Amino acid sequence: MSTIALLPGDGIGAEILDGPVAYLRQLEREGLPVRVTGPFPYGTTGWLQTGTTLPAETVEACRDADVVLSGAVGSHPGVSSDECPNPEAALIALRHEFDLRISVRTVRVPGRPDVVIVRNIIGGAYGSPDQRVESDGVRPAEDRLVLDPAHVQEVFDIAVEHARAMPGRRTISVDKASVYATSRLWRRLSRSTSESSGVVFENVNVDRAAYELVKYDDLPAVIVTEGLFGDILSDVVCARAGSPALCGSATINPDRTFGSGITALFEPAHGSSPHRTGSRRSNPTGSWLALVDLLAWCPDLAALGLHRQVRQALDSVIETAPPTYDLASPGADTIDLDEFNERVLEALGTGCDRRPVAPTTNG
Ligand code: IPM
Ligand code: MN
Repeated sequence: MSTIALLPGDGIGAEILDGPVAYLRQLEREGLPVRVTGPFPYGTTGWLQTGTTLPAETVEACRDADVVLSGAVGSHPGVSSDECPNPEAALIALRHEFDLRISVRTVRVPGRPDVVIVRNIIGGAYGSPDQRVESDGVRPAEDRLVLDPAHVQEVFDIAVEHARAMPGRRTISVDKASVYATSRLWRRLSRSTSESSGVVFENVNVDRAAYELVKYDDLPAVIVTEGLFGDILSDVVCARAGSPALCGSATINPDRTFGSGITALFEPAHGSSPHRTGSRRSNPTGSWLALVDLLAWCPDLAALGLHRQVRQALDSVIETAPPTYDLASPGADTIDLDEFNERVLEALGTGCDRRPVAPTTNG
């Protein structure tokens, strides 16, 4: 049995999960090994409801779950950033609490094969708060970058798995070895992993990588890189795909030990789009891609092959339906969030319960 805790979060975070959650609830009703819990308060809406962006109740729910399905964390209509200054800290705290130390992003690029970005999200530029010293405006601010070889190796091991699943395509390791010691470590492990795994990691400096990703038609199959470089380059790849909505994000603990709290968090990679909240126009592709990753991650669900069915249904809708507003040329026909979901659910052949995940709360 896989327990999935829902953390819709902020802005469009709740509505964007409606399709995947309708599907999961249907699986639950059919007696498949799925238990959906929540929604639990998180982010700016968590602050609105409870006074804190990561309430103890939510952390407890994560302890009782195997994975999280999340919408977005960020701004929410009606709440100023003075009132709730850093809702993203809730996501970072959750990553640290459950040691979700690697991020794997899948970008669906229209008309091209997927691009997978693998990066560390604990350590390096994403060090814990004790690696940082705030400035008072006079003393210098400090962010220490520390990368442990064993943790870098884990990132490469995950990248190798993805590269092997997409044979014949380019795999790049991105760093800034001319400047950073952490990058020189990264490059050393890139070389040794190339030798030991047989997967060729081509070493590319981060500035050059950004240029190539924008300039050249062909995109690499896998990009493995340090957390901050990957944060930036995954947005570049989304721009190439045409929309930030075309990326599913999995934040994983590679130990994959089930039974003692969440082992991974799945979410669309886009932000909370506060100004579009409630419009029900947003493109839910990233949520469906996150669901595909979730279904492939949980062993009892992976055994059922549901991830392949959902991905197929999603692809067929993207290929045959009019686009959502973010991908449409001016004046073209578009479909909204509900119609998109309806089509995916229909392609999956499920008579799902279409109740929204959570009513949208305005501050
Ligand atoms: C992302 C975001 C996060 C990150 C923030 C919200 C901490 O930008 O998921 O890409 O940098 O990892
Ligand atoms: Mn980002």
